[in-house]
Amino acid sequence: MTDTVQQLNVELGDRSYPILIGAGLLGARDLTAWVAGSRVMIVTNDTIAPLYLEATRRNFPGCRVDEVVLPDGESHKNWEVLNRIFDALLENTHSRKTTLVALGGGVVGDMTGFAAACYQRGVDFIQVPTTLLSQVDSSVGGKTGINHPLGKNMVGAFHQPRGVLIDTDTLQSLPPREVSAGLAEVIKYGLIRDAGFLAWLEETMPRLVSLDAEALTEAIYRSCACKAEVVAQDEREGGLRAILNLGHTFGHAIETWAGYGNWLHGEAVGTGMLMAADLSRRGGALTAADMDRVERLIRAAGLPVVPPAGMTPDDFMRLMAVDKKNVEGQLRLILLRSLGEAEVTEAFAPGDLSDTLTAFCH
Ligand code: NAD
Ligand code: GLY
Repeated sequence: MTDTVQQLNVELGDRSYPILIGAGLLGARDLTAWVAGSRVMIVTNDTIAPLYLEATRRNFPGCRVDEVVLPDGESHKNWEVLNRIFDALLENTHSRKTTLVALGGGVVGDMTGFAAACYQRGVDFIQVPTTLLSQVDSSVGGKTGINHPLGKNMVGAFHQPRGVLIDTDTLQSLPPREVSAGLAEVIKYGLIRDAGFLAWLEETMPRLVSLDAEALTEAIYRSCACKAEVVAQDEREGGLRAILNLGHTFGHAIETWAGYGNWLHGEAVGTGMLMAADLSRRGGALTAADMDRVERLIRAAGLPVVPPAGMTPDDFMRLMAVDKKNVEGQLRLILLRSLGEAEVTEAFAPGDLSDTLTAFCH
């Protein structure tokens, strides 16, 4: 195991928890201090199980460790597959003292967290994220849930993990398209809150895309630090936390339109952030040069910069109408005040939104 484990904390009073980041942590770091009882249920999928399940079992010495292996994919983030977690827990007589372990990307993490929030009215869980996207975003902050055919992540709960273990070595087996998807969320932090980080990303993107371990660790640490800060201030998204959804309103519309799993979440967010930047520019907050920087960075991360062919402005308007940020039918968006600063707002000209949608749809 590496001797350079970095630690951050998500400060939420008696629900505070650590995030450990380092290489070689899977199979090596003893996590039993995060387990209240003596039983653990690892939830993973059929892609990750052959790669990392056996190692993860060794993180819980002395515990009885069961497992449930789900089918891989966003299209399985639904009630039916969620129920398999409950089946496995009940068949193996897990009690309220059990601890679930989410071993995988954001799909496994969101579903396991939601199962933990519901099982016997709530049990503990630990996040062991294995995609870049889940390491920088979905494993931190306690948003859990599943998709509904009419909307992404529409059924869920806030439920914080007991801890997050990020083994950066797992990224070496990640397909390039998934690396790019994770980089979308990394870029997001620069855009919404940290102009210095954004400039660092512009310089460092080639190293990140080629999986340079040192650059990735730095990007993960800075991303998690940003997310932990925001979540500590606004756990349940009463206000500030919504800025973490930059590009997501457009992005969720793309994901739903394309069919879950056809566009990766991060890909949709990448295009969505560019659309949000375009709308911000139309409102006068960004310059054309700012827009160029955003587009260059999103392209450099290997992400798409236009929505899927055939998607129309009407499709966007219909799908964006069910976004969770909307209040009483009023569309709310995250827009940029400048590169490095975001706001949640309803105050954009409807004509500008329509122009952005028309400009991007093809
Ligand atoms: P994912 O979970 O589908 O994982 C992507 C693919 O990579 C899957 O096929 C997975 O099996 C595979 N994989 C995972 N780790 C691997 C590894 N180390 N090596 C090889 N293959 C590996 O996708 P994701 O991008 O991690 O997560 C997307 C999901 O996260 C979406 O459902 C999204 O809604 C959710 N999300 C949640 C939050 C939150 O705050 N809860 C935030 C962002 C995204
Ligand atoms: N990914 C958005 C959030 O956690 O709030």
